[in-house]
Amino acid sequence: MASRDTSSTRPATRAVHAGSPPRKAGEPVVPPVVQSATFHYSRPDEGHELLYSRYGNNPNQRAVAEKVAALEGMEDAHVLASGMAAISMSLLSIVESGDHIVASRHLYGATSALLRVELPRRGITTTFVDPEEDGAWSKAATGRTRAFLVELPTNPTLRVFDMEPPRRAASDVGAVLMADVTFASPANLRGADHGIDLVIHSATKYLGGHSDLIAGVVSGSAARIEAVREVARLYGPALDPHAAWLLERGIRTLPLRMERHNDNALQLARWLVDQEGVDQVIYPGLPNHPDHARAREILAGFGGMLSLVLAGGGDAADRFMAALGVAIAAPSLGGVETLVSQPRYTSHLGLTPDERAAQGIPDGFVRVSVGLEDVEDLQEDFRQSLRAARG
Ligand SMILES: Cc1ncc(COP(=O)(O)O)c(C=O)c1O
Repeated sequence: MASRDTSSTRPATRAVHAGSPPRKAGEPVVPPVVQSATFHYSRPDEGHELLYSRYGNNPNQRAVAEKVAALEGMEDAHVLASGMAAISMSLLSIVESGDHIVASRHLYGATSALLRVELPRRGITTTFVDPEEDGAWSKAATGRTRAFLVELPTNPTLRVFDMEPPRRAASDVGAVLMADVTFASPANLRGADHGIDLVIHSATKYLGGHSDLIAGVVSGSAARIEAVREVARLYGPALDPHAAWLLERGIRTLPLRMERHNDNALQLARWLVDQEGVDQVIYPGLPNHPDHARAREILAGFGGMLSLVLAGGGDAADRFMAALGVAIAAPSLGGVETLVSQPRYTSHLGLTPDERAAQGIPDGFVRVSVGLEDVEDLQEDFRQSLRAARG
């Protein structure tokens, strides 16, 4: 069914209305959950698309896809069962055995493992580059490079690298530029403005926004999304209609939630700078962040993620986490509640302390997904947790 045209509207309006069918009298304002695996269909000449919930064309799945495409300024999108499904299906829609990928060294752990361990088993290799090294992206390209992959901002050091070098390198060799912009969300960075061909989100985070579902979305041109859809039909990581309904409900408040995430994180970061026992506060909105100028230029807000390095190392971080009362010690991010984790126990568990330190993640490093609570309550909670951290 054709959806309402929101192309002339602004982001908050799109977040509320894009993907909804035009309403007739007596129809519900909130689209129902269409908890059906399959849909009435007898022959192809009836003029209906064959609907089947594994195909991603259940009405709830399509509503999410259309909303995200509208927010990203892209032609189409496809919703999948997780952020990792969005990344893996997108890659597999582009590369085949013998092909090559160029990826940033700064990637989410599972994405990195997919590229380092899993795809090589299928004859697909990756060269990892340091995005700060001059010419690194072009130098790494080979005659078989089909995709360039970046993450922005990065986890957990929140780097905001220049998208122009990978964009140019991809365009020079006719490859696809993919960006995982989960940490930014479409409210802080719109894919279409940055020459990204495939924009990927773990919708588990800010898009869903309530830590109650696992999902992923990829958006891009109609042709690229059709290619993702074809691969996903075969591998099968479809999002359940109820989770898609919850996700669509979450996205309606995304711009509003992101304003508060941005404000709370900026206030908390500024406050933390002056607290005893905090060696370093890492937040793109602080002037001492290495990418502050670029973040100002390309992000609509600095985001809800910040990181701290505590003076007392790993033991202090353990005491800090144990003392939290409002914030919750848990991995993941992007929900209404403040979540705190230590990368040495989660995303960077497989590395030695020296390897982590070389990546700017010494023991004592704490990552905070700043939620929507009153910031004064978060400050009080962090004040007493920092006191506990000092011992
Ligand atoms: C940047 C980033 N990309 C992808 C993922 C994977 O998302 P999911 O857990 O929804 O598969 C995560 C999960 O933490 C992430 O932080």
